[in-house]
Amino acid sequence: LVVVLDFGGQYKQLIARRVRECQVYCEIHSYKTPIDELKAMAPKGIILTGGPNSVFEATSPTYQKELYELGIPILGICYGSQLMAHTLGGEVKKAPVSEYGHTKLTIDGPDSLIMKDVAADTVCWMSHTDYIAKAPEGFAVTAHTPNCPIAAMENPDKKLYAVQFHPEVVHTPEGKKMLQNFLTKVCGCAGTWQMNTFVKDTVAALKEKIGDDRVLLGLSGGVDSTVTAVLLSKAIGKQLTCVFVDHGLMRKDEGDEVEAVFGPKGDFDLNFIRVNAGETYFKKLKGVTDPEQKRKIIGALFVEIFGAEAKKLTDEGGFKYMAQGTIYPDVVESGAGNGGAVIKSHHNVGGLPQEMVVELGFDQTPIEPLRDLFKDEVRKVGLELGIPRNLVFRQPFPGPGLGIRVVGEVTPEKVKITQEADAIYREELEKAGIDMGKGQFFAALSNLRSVGVMGDDRTYDYAVVLRGVITSDFMTAEAAEIPWSVLQTCMNRIINEVKGVNRVMYDLTSKPPGTIELE
Ligand code: XMP
Repeated sequence: LVVVLDFGGQYKQLIARRVRECQVYCEIHSYKTPIDELKAMAPKGIILTGGPNSVFEATSPTYQKELYELGIPILGICYGSQLMAHTLGGEVKKAPVSEYGHTKLTIDGPDSLIMKDVAADTVCWMSHTDYIAKAPEGFAVTAHTPNCPIAAMENPDKKLYAVQFHPEVVHTPEGKKMLQNFLTKVCGCAGTWQMNTFVKDTVAALKEKIGDDRVLLGLSGGVDSTVTAVLLSKAIGKQLTCVFVDHGLMRKDEGDEVEAVFGPKGDFDLNFIRVNAGETYFKKLKGVTDPEQKRKIIGALFVEIFGAEAKKLTDEGGFKYMAQGTIYPDVVESGAGNGGAVIKSHHNVGGLPQEMVVELGFDQTPIEPLRDLFKDEVRKVGLELGIPRNLVFRQPFPGPGLGIRVVGEVTPEKVKITQEADAIYREELEKAGIDMGKGQFFAALSNLRSVGVMGDDRTYDYAVVLRGVITSDFMTAEAAEIPWSVLQTCMNRIINEVKGVNRVMYDLTSKPPGTIELE
């Protein structure tokens, strides 16, 4: 285990991903984690993240000096490096020149373990206003940039390393090598953490924990709950019951596809229940136009319907556990147990409120076998488990489904129009060989109605919005450059084949200032 100690850095997840890409298991923990807890985890190394603060401010996050005396290798990044310098008696100052972006990096310590095999002249990604003006005693300077005399420093005897730049971002081309050097050469990690080991160990652990008990899982058809279902099915077979609440707001044919894979005719050993709740959803959404209100209604209905089904099932015969497809970014972003800031509140993990869990007599802690994994790792597990590729690489789809892709009031007709347009759009993108895995591609329905002419008749119909964004983290995104001819084919087909549409538009907005979804 390697611990990424979080000081509020926006790149903490990226650091953790890079570490895992080196096949080393790591977890992100808050800087508020007491030192005894850290020691008890017995990490092979600790990485201090960057953060938005300045070490001089009294309220800035910090960590007690004893951390550096544990004998555990430490790598400080950006704010983490300044904190190390400041705590150990070096000098941190406001830099005369701030550095942002690509910066030339010169390696001064060719013998440094973490700089091993790094070119003497390379490039790094900088983002700082303070800098280390003087290294603490016992530290050697191992790299500099034109405006930053101490871009890297180290005290190899104490296994303390620090870099002012960001080795975790792709803009530091040799950053991954430096991280890998730190993990293998300094921390002594073997780098053997792999998905097939994960699957084997997790299935065994689930078997052991669950024994003869039964487990209930809310299945949405998304990657996370799908992989959770299959892992559990491998471990406990028919002791698992999956409930799929079809809200009628799925993409075209998706409800049936979920049933085909998990239903009695499917490939997996489990019990599957589909609740067709479309009508109930449409009734409740009638006349509602506010996006947040729609989200609330859809979320509350899920709890109501899934809860009622869970109650019925528990009355029929005991379930001990609920399972959930929570993944690591959900845990980090919801701030659970980490003291991190809440970034998004709309994370939908398909669970029930705690009171209901208690009322239904489930164990208080849900089973969350993917809790420690990133999305790309979940996908690898999915492939390892033999889940079809089209399910594993399914595009992210929001919990409220087309409910938030139909702008304004949601009606069965508008959902149908959106489903048809979206299916055509994705089919054409697929045909054109556009890699939809690089982001999110979908059709939405605007609430604009406008005049058109078809044949000799005037039309007054809806405008479909095609959206395509390229993103790796869904926090920022740019509109995808789709060839004009592909967009034209989509426009032609959608207007000809989908009744109720007379205009097609392509959304160019990036995020920020837009969001990925229209609502
Ligand atoms: P935005 O629109 O916030 O989307 O830029 C970022 C990512 O989150 C998804 N999204 C949601 N997911 N419930 C969800 O489960 C929601 O209410 C919701 N709203 C947006 C969106 O699809 C994108 O992947």
